[in-house]
Amino acid sequence: QERVFSGVQPSGNLTLGNYLGAIRNWVGLQQDYESIFCVVDLHAITVWQEPEVLRNATREVAAGMIASGVDPKQSIIFNQSQVRQHAELAWIFNCVARLGWLNRMTQFKEKAGKNKERASVGLYVYPNLMAADILLYKATHVPVGEDQKQHLELTRDIAQKFNSDYGVEFFPDVEPLILGEATRVMSLRDGTNKMSKSDPSDMSRINLTDDRDTIAKKIRKARTDAEPLPETPDGLEGRPEAKNLITIFGALAGKSSAEVCSQYAGKGFADFKRDLADLSVDVLGPITEEMKRLTEEKTYVDSVLREGADKAAAIAEPILQEIHEIVGFLKP
Ligand code: TYM
Repeated sequence: QERVFSGVQPSGNLTLGNYLGAIRNWVGLQQDYESIFCVVDLHAITVWQEPEVLRNATREVAAGMIASGVDPKQSIIFNQSQVRQHAELAWIFNCVARLGWLNRMTQFKEKAGKNKERASVGLYVYPNLMAADILLYKATHVPVGEDQKQHLELTRDIAQKFNSDYGVEFFPDVEPLILGEATRVMSLRDGTNKMSKSDPSDMSRINLTDDRDTIAKKIRKARTDAEPLPETPDGLEGRPEAKNLITIFGALAGKSSAEVCSQYAGKGFADFKRDLADLSVDVLGPITEEMKRLTEEKTYVDSVLREGADKAAAIAEPILQEIHEIVGFLKP
């Protein structure tokens, strides 16, 4: 049986990167797969979160998913901490994964920064929890942006080691789905860095909560180079900022980078940025409004999350019971 699972951290605003790299793709997948989408609050606390801010962000991220077209009638939507089985399976995976595997995780190195001694232990074992999220449902397909690829390889390693250690064919092979044109949206201030919710500069990203003027301003001020736009994507080599803006344009307009290049060939960035701002506002504006409406109407989002958690737990619990049996936990 095929099943989709994916998650987003409520550790700040949803960005255009989250939307183009992940959430937008979920909308199509939910038609064809049984789909489970999770606001991963257990992951968020691997770095410090103010409790009230975390609570609001959890609602807001759920609202953002729904506003983007993830349909609570077709998909299961819930927040991770409500389904205790995630943390429980993560412990078992802490005992399956090897230190050497985690030492290779590039995201830990980036997030922990120079002073690794001061990073939380949770940040280090984070990929084991992510593997638990997916394998708790025996999900087969995981739609994510490019930055999650290494974590999904680790998920496969954990699944295979568990299967071979216990001599079972229990966990399936997990297939990453890295879909669309914009699988790695870059910062508006530095084309070599990923656009991220946690970047200290708000000018580096477009948030799904930004209003029209803010979006226009961020795009106008986005870093570019002095050259005009090239005729073909080959001309974007060595021009990361230009490449990023063209990729974003294409993803929002449903066009390839080649089409966008030929449309703007030889023009300066001023015209292009004006059009990109208009396009962004056209696509994101309705989502932002709906997200705001849903966030204010707390009871609806809360009821979606509550029902989602019940449905998720109903799938997870029997699978976790089988895992207990395989591992040898006594159930007197
Ligand atoms: P998170 O919260 O950082 O991001 C959520 C999703 O958005 C994608 N994404 C991007 N895509 C393109 N360009 C970008 N600049 C960009 N920034 C983020 C991410 O790839 C992701 O798909 N560890 C995960 C959350 C998670 C998860 C899971 C995902 C926890 N458990 C199980 C899948 C399955 C994370 O931190 O995503």
